[in-house]
Amino acid sequence: MPSLSPPCLRGLHAVSLRVLCVRLAASAVSKPVSRGGNILTNDRATLRFPEDFLWGTATSSHQVEGHNTNNDWWAWEQLPGKISDGTTSGPTADWWQRAEEDFDRAAALGQNTLRLSLEWSRIQPQEGEWDEAALGRYRQMLQGLLDRGITPMVTLHHFTNPLWLAEKGGWENPEVVPLFDRYASKVVEELGDLCSLWCTLNEPLIYIVFGYIYGTWPPGVHDLLRGIRVFRNMVRAHARAYHTIHRLQADAQVSIARHLRIFDPANRESQADRWAARLLEYVFNDAFLGAVTNGRIDPPFGFWEVIPQAIDSLDYIGVNYYSRDMVAFDITQPASFFARRFANPDSEFSMEGWGEVYPEGLYRILVEMSGYGKPLYITEVGIPDNTDQQRPSFILSHAAATHRAIQEGVPVKGFYFWSLVDNFEWAEGYSARFGLIDVDFEPQARKLKESARLYAEIAKANAITPEIVEKWAPEIIDQILE
Ligand code: FCB
Repeated sequence: MPSLSPPCLRGLHAVSLRVLCVRLAASAVSKPVSRGGNILTNDRATLRFPEDFLWGTATSSHQVEGHNTNNDWWAWEQLPGKISDGTTSGPTADWWQRAEEDFDRAAALGQNTLRLSLEWSRIQPQEGEWDEAALGRYRQMLQGLLDRGITPMVTLHHFTNPLWLAEKGGWENPEVVPLFDRYASKVVEELGDLCSLWCTLNEPLIYIVFGYIYGTWPPGVHDLLRGIRVFRNMVRAHARAYHTIHRLQADAQVSIARHLRIFDPANRESQADRWAARLLEYVFNDAFLGAVTNGRIDPPFGFWEVIPQAIDSLDYIGVNYYSRDMVAFDITQPASFFARRFANPDSEFSMEGWGEVYPEGLYRILVEMSGYGKPLYITEVGIPDNTDQQRPSFILSHAAATHRAIQEGVPVKGFYFWSLVDNFEWAEGYSARFGLIDVDFEPQARKLKESARLYAEIAKANAITPEIVEKWAPEIIDQILE
């Protein structure tokens, strides 16, 4: 392991020990008996989840609301060549008018939670101006969820910025810190009686990599130093909003949804590949979490600067998990931290360019994250699958990986599948479908996919039973049930 090991990883040894003890205890019990959360039926174990476990789906404002014309993504979509299939978000799933129809579907599917984001550009259309009608609409939506027995989790920033903010430099401008804080406090003052589970930011590293390094998302910049500035402002903005939310709401649970990936060396024997994989893991997975837990901004994001407000500013960890990258050292790619990434060629793939289907990676991330000693929510997990062929076994294998982590003592509290409905997938437009519910955007017609029915069976049983696996993905039964 290179000397880059960040301080935030120190707690991991304790959890690895705990996981090892649970594994040893489990293997000491001979089959077939009931143990822990598993009950054996038909010679196969049912994987039961904790009683208060949350099953739901995740969405974001720009991807489902429609006509968010006052933000930087809308402006970006109108530029030729920015969206791979030439579409623009347009009405998308039309949640601004009809979210409740999909809330009905989510409730009927047994979901008891929903993660959604608020659109800053609707709530604050101009600097210093609040739109009470927009806040009223969000009140209605959150109340609508509660009325259906669905606990809301609310994200304050999911990639989009009001145009007025983008025009003054967006997240590069340090003014964003007080501005975001003001927005967060307005939201909690107005809506805090309807929600206590908050995500300040969604996937800060994805935002920085695509917006400021690859330049394929707004603001279309290719400049690592500017990306680093954004990183630091995001840490500060999160930290300040964290304390503001807590000041306004005693029982608030506040975190960030972090996109976390597995980076494995392409060749385990190669010291250089191992170093490159570890470096990416540090930069992409660990550095931001380190900053918002121990308050330190370490290289390459800063020079061991401490931000006192950021210390211990997470109440839980939000895990967005999609895939793994194999990493080979490549001297010709300093801008990519000397790493060449590719999907494991021996694995199952999802749609082109989206990488490997690797459920074990979710288990590994959950075990690693439990080292922070906080509850975990899987705030996103999903697969682009336009024909719904792979999604059923994907759901089962990733839910089983979650169960395995829980059995080993990892405190996972909820599972949010991305996504409830097909929606606008950023630079991929409408070419990548992630929903459990198929949306025909022109007439706004809905059709349940088979995977929605499967997910409902798991959520309603709060378990993965042998019958469910036999019905939906018998080919993986040996992998997920004993
Ligand atoms: C995540 C994003 C989400 C969606 C899924 C597919 O990285 O948070 O908005 O695009 O990927």
